[in-house]
Amino acid sequence: MVAVAILAAGRGTRMKSDLPKVLHTLAGRSLVERVIDSCQLLEPEHKIVIIGYQGAKIQQELSHLDELKFVTQSEQLGTGHAVQQLLPQLQDYQGDLLVLNGDAPLLRKVTLQQLVKTHQENGNAATLLTANLPNPQGYGRVFCDRNNLVSQIIEDRDCTPAQRKNSRVNAGIYCFNWPKLAQALPKLSTDNDQQEYYLTEVVDYLDQVMAVDAADYLEITGINDRKQLSNAYNILQNRIKDYWMKAGVMMIQPETITIDETAQLEPDVVIEPQTHIRGNSAIAAGSRIGPGSLINNSKIAENVTVLYSVVTDSEVAANTTIGPYAHLRGAAKIGTNCRIGNFVEIKKSSLGNDINAAHLSYLGDATLGDRVNIGAGTITANYDGVRKHQTIIGSGTKTGSNSVMVAPLTLGENVTVAAGSVVTKDVPPDALVIARARQKEISDWQKNI
Ligand code: UD1
Ligand code: CA
Repeated sequence: MVAVAILAAGRGTRMKSDLPKVLHTLAGRSLVERVIDSCQLLEPEHKIVIIGYQGAKIQQELSHLDELKFVTQSEQLGTGHAVQQLLPQLQDYQGDLLVLNGDAPLLRKVTLQQLVKTHQENGNAATLLTANLPNPQGYGRVFCDRNNLVSQIIEDRDCTPAQRKNSRVNAGIYCFNWPKLAQALPKLSTDNDQQEYYLTEVVDYLDQVMAVDAADYLEITGINDRKQLSNAYNILQNRIKDYWMKAGVMMIQPETITIDETAQLEPDVVIEPQTHIRGNSAIAAGSRIGPGSLINNSKIAENVTVLYSVVTDSEVAANTTIGPYAHLRGAAKIGTNCRIGNFVEIKKSSLGNDINAAHLSYLGDATLGDRVNIGAGTITANYDGVRKHQTIIGSGTKTGSNSVMVAPLTLGENVTVAAGSVVTKDVPPDALVIARARQKEISDWQKNI
């Protein structure tokens, strides 16, 4: 039986922000939400978030997650004091308690599972996650014997220079036998540099306490300031990109690419430099995205090319090329074998297959059949200043350069629109429509003026 408590009451002074530290976001999700997510595999009996500084705001931000309980630590007198607030709540609880720092968002689910397993198998009073850091500055140092039994944890600021050389640090992630911890908690003192109740002091009153190293030291990264937050983003990104490269995705200069955790990629996708894949995007095998593209919440089918373009909330079918410099948005749907080229914007429109819209166009609120050729500079004038209107263009139709379709408008199949036309009335199939002033020549003009 495991209960989880997440320490999230502190302000996070070192962030220099009005926002509580644990509500700062890392790749779209708050730190505390990531920490809550990391204990998912344990199916905890209780999930308690200890709140204090701007607690109501934290509670509100987490209101979409169910089964969370909140305990308030009204004065932030230290991590030990925070856990003391659980005493009334867990009075009759007999199981283990996993304590997680709300500012450690990179923990892997399996690491926590392993920690609890080691704790239970060894019958420990406490088991804590540790790591050897190349730069342990700022972390509490953990002193162990060769069996990983912990004698002491000393905060960086309380260490002597010799103690500070120990690079094994406390991750702030612990599994406790709750009844034993409950007896130790009232014994904590404030006898330290910050005059706070340190949770780490319970080690002095518990037997036995074991340290377990995290497989990857980057996992335990705690966020105390903005630099660490941006560093954590890089760690997270490297993790995501390594995962996809192992799964068969090709990345050129991956250090210039970002990919959200929510994105799905298939093998043989190629991602070129300066490309960003965000939200619930999915990219199918053989597609080549970038350089310089943003795919946000969009589905890209097989063998699509997207070059220097932005695709948001849209769908692109197989073998289509997008860009350079195209913008698809607002649920644009593009069929197979299309060419959407230079400076073309497509909003909330559905395009069939084999469509060419290669240069300088705006298609908004439009429905196109198949094999439509959109001439350079074609615009659907979809907005009358109050409402948006639909344009329907039948299969096989060709619009001339610089033509305007004034919506609402329906062009039948195989219509030809003359260049420079402003089409305001529906056109039947197979017609040529010319909607512009006829060319007129006045001879000897210069002589007569
Ligand atoms: C803590 C550990 C340190 C460890 C480090 C790992 C202690 C005394 N020190 O130090 O050994 O190496 O984490 O990152 O525990 N909080 C409260 N109430 C409080 C104080 C803090 O809820 O009164 C919360 C904070 O919101 C934060 C977490 O506890 O989420 C850790 O607090 P922080 O001040 O960042 O501790 P560190 O100094 O980093
Ligand atoms: Ca911290």
